[in-house]
Amino acid sequence: MNSPVVSRTLTNMQILLTHHPLVSHKLTTLRAQSTESATFRALTDELVTLLAYEATQNIKVEPVEVQTPVAVAQGVKLSGAAPIVIPILRAGLGMLSGMMHLLPTAEVGFLGMMRDEETLSSTIYADRIPADLSGRHVFLLDPMLATGGTLIAAMDLMLHRGAEKVTAICILASPEGISAVEQAFVGRDEQIVLVAAAVDSHLNNKGYIVPGLGDAGDRLFGTV
Ligand code: URA
Repeated sequence: MNSPVVSRTLTNMQILLTHHPLVSHKLTTLRAQSTESATFRALTDELVTLLAYEATQNIKVEPVEVQTPVAVAQGVKLSGAAPIVIPILRAGLGMLSGMMHLLPTAEVGFLGMMRDEETLSSTIYADRIPADLSGRHVFLLDPMLATGGTLIAAMDLMLHRGAEKVTAICILASPEGISAVEQAFVGRDEQIVLVAAAVDSHLNNKGYIVPGLGDAGDRLFGTV
């Protein structure tokens, strides 16, 4: 896979943008208005697996020896507390299986967050996440980083519960959303990573990413 572009590292936040042609190809089809829900879901699955590959590049491993049919080989295995994958409902749910293909031993939690379409602020309506995340690497799944309100609230919750590292995997991000996340966590020393397939032009006055792909939840789940 092409190396991800680290667009900038602002104190504690790292942003990884994937410039692999397969990611760009799948993202282009995902954007198309003519792409039906079934194809949209399948492409999201594949895209998230590719983004997950980038997102897990620094996951903790420890050395192990393994007996092959021929000799002993030196290898590694995942070490430390199991990572936890948390889709932000509802659209993040469409990213879960793509993530779990790559990290089948991860634990899964669920966070329900709702965006008020007028104020664009987010509230939590479901929290199925361990109360203690000490020493854990949390992977948050949310396809669209738009205003940043949802992701900031979700990241804040994880860090308050003691998460050692929070990696957000998004399909698309807006420049406004990235700035909002950076501003929210600047000066803090927790490790925060954002992985995305692309950063689009801007947000429109309804808080949609332009050109974006529309409402990710509606397109994933066929809601009109
Ligand atoms: N949520 C979406 O689903 N799409 C956007 O463009 C912004 C937020």
